[in-house]
Amino acid sequence: MKIFLDTANIPSIKTFVDMGVLDGITTNPTLIAKENREFTELVHDILKLVPGPVNLEVVSQDSEGMIREGHDLAGLGPNVVVKCPMTGEGLKAVRKLHKDGIKTNVTLIFSPNQALLAAKAGADYASPFIGRLDDAGHEGMKIIEETLRIYQNYGLGTQVLVASIRHPIHVVEAAKLGAHVATMPPEVLDKMVKHPLTDIGLKRFLDDWEKAGLRLPEGRASPMKPKPLIQRA
Ligand code: G3P
Repeated sequence: MKIFLDTANIPSIKTFVDMGVLDGITTNPTLIAKENREFTELVHDILKLVPGPVNLEVVSQDSEGMIREGHDLAGLGPNVVVKCPMTGEGLKAVRKLHKDGIKTNVTLIFSPNQALLAAKAGADYASPFIGRLDDAGHEGMKIIEETLRIYQNYGLGTQVLVASIRHPIHVVEAAKLGAHVATMPPEVLDKMVKHPLTDIGLKRFLDDWEKAGLRLPEGRASPMKPKPLIQRA
């Protein structure tokens, strides 16, 4: 499963790019607004850091406006994916952008039927919001299971991008179901890195090492040269 970070925050993005665990970025107008920066400059900084898909959302509500914005956003970088809302106008925009060779993501999906329509319109990604469904008293993960099944039944190539993830269990469940992508806030990805037993174990190893007064060799390591697989006579 691909891991995307749901943020426009440069230090957070850099942290996880450096760990080599990040496959892409999703943003939305709320996340962009939080950064308090000029939009295009911020996006250029994100694109410099992230080689994978960078999802940027349109803000028009009519399809013509979305198509125009979609072209402008796609012009910012070859890895931009244009997010359109799950509305009739959004689907029209997705259909046209798809025909124009621009990658799209249908956002704000809350039912398997909406996910089916997003795929039929030609979306590259469909984003069900599972946390917000959980908040409203539904079982958010069920829509992931149902959407994956529907896409599989009809050989639809749209990727299921699990959005509105609130905690690491959501990520495990999404991966077990075979979702294509999970996008999550930096706090959730940070929780996935950490485990209290890892910290306790590491402390114990280092305490024992220190107590024994041991030292690793310094400055004597020779650069490793790969040995040829076949030794020639
Ligand atoms: O970016 C879309 C989605 O992941 C937002 O999540 O936490 O605002 O429900 P949330």
